Amino acid sequence: MNISVLGTGNMGKALVKRLSEKGNHPVRWGSRSPEETKELARQLQLSNVTVSTNEEALQADIIIPAFHAAVLKEWAIAHKEQLKQKIVVDISNPFNADFSGFTTAWGESSAEQLQALLPESSVIGAFKNTFFKVVDEPVHEGQVSDVLVTGNDEEAVKAFMEAVTPLPFRFLHAGKLENNRTIERFTLLELELAFRYNTYPYISLQLFGIKTPVAAN
Ligand SMILES: NC(=O)c1ccc[n+]([C@@H]2O[C@H](COP(=O)([O-])OP(=O)(O)OC[C@H]3O[C@@H](n4cnc5c(N)ncnc54)[C@H](OP(=O)(O)O)[C@@H]3O)[C@@H](O)[C@H]2O)c1
Repeated sequence: MNISVLGTGNMGKALVKRLSEKGNHPVRWGSRSPEETKELARQLQLSNVTVSTNEEALQADIIIPAFHAAVLKEWAIAHKEQLKQKIVVDISNPFNADFSGFTTAWGESSAEQLQALLPESSVIGAFKNTFFKVVDEPVHEGQVSDVLVTGNDEEAVKAFMEAVTPLPFRFLHAGKLENNRTIERFTLLELELAFRYNTYPYISLQLFGIKTPVAAN
């Protein structure tokens, strides 16, 4: 299994850091500007990361496009063929431009929309509820965030969870993709809470009472 992250924004950068530091799999980092990304990787002192174009990054088994939902859809349509039989990890939250609501209707989720666009790929929802600052600094007072993992293809969910297990998060199997209707909407509530309690952008979720192994710090 090798993993690609596409995009060098807040989430792309933080995910590459975590995967290269703790993951057991080769990591490729795709972007629209590989030369700038090489410099970024050097500044961040990342090892075990191969920088490439977004196109080359499609060679991986697990692909994490860290794009906004609208960009993600265009990208999926354009690369549907190359993404066949791949695990495509959807981290997107379909918030509207001023974060007051959603671009999806009730009863829809970005993850299900992506799966509909990529019927021969296995879409996994993950990291939606985990804000970039938490991915960047995952251990808080000795505790780690829960990351809700969803997917309709059980084999793909298993493969993804095995691949990311060493990362400092507690990955919880959160069921089918349709649960992203709730996860994506809950994430906007997290944002509101973060502003209300002055912790933005440091907020994530940790559920009480579930006994399951937690990744090492
Ligand atoms: N921010 C969070 O805390 C957070 C938490 C959970 C989930 N998410 C989700 O993660 C995704 C990325 O969020 P983000 O905060 O990392 O966004 P961001 O900082 O704006 O980064 C988005 C990246 O997408 C890439 N990109 C590729 N094609 C693009 C295009 N046509 N136009 C603009 N950018 C393009 C760019 O990387 P290159 O220039 O390298 O190509 C850009 O840096 C979103 O779907 C968001 O909902 C975010």
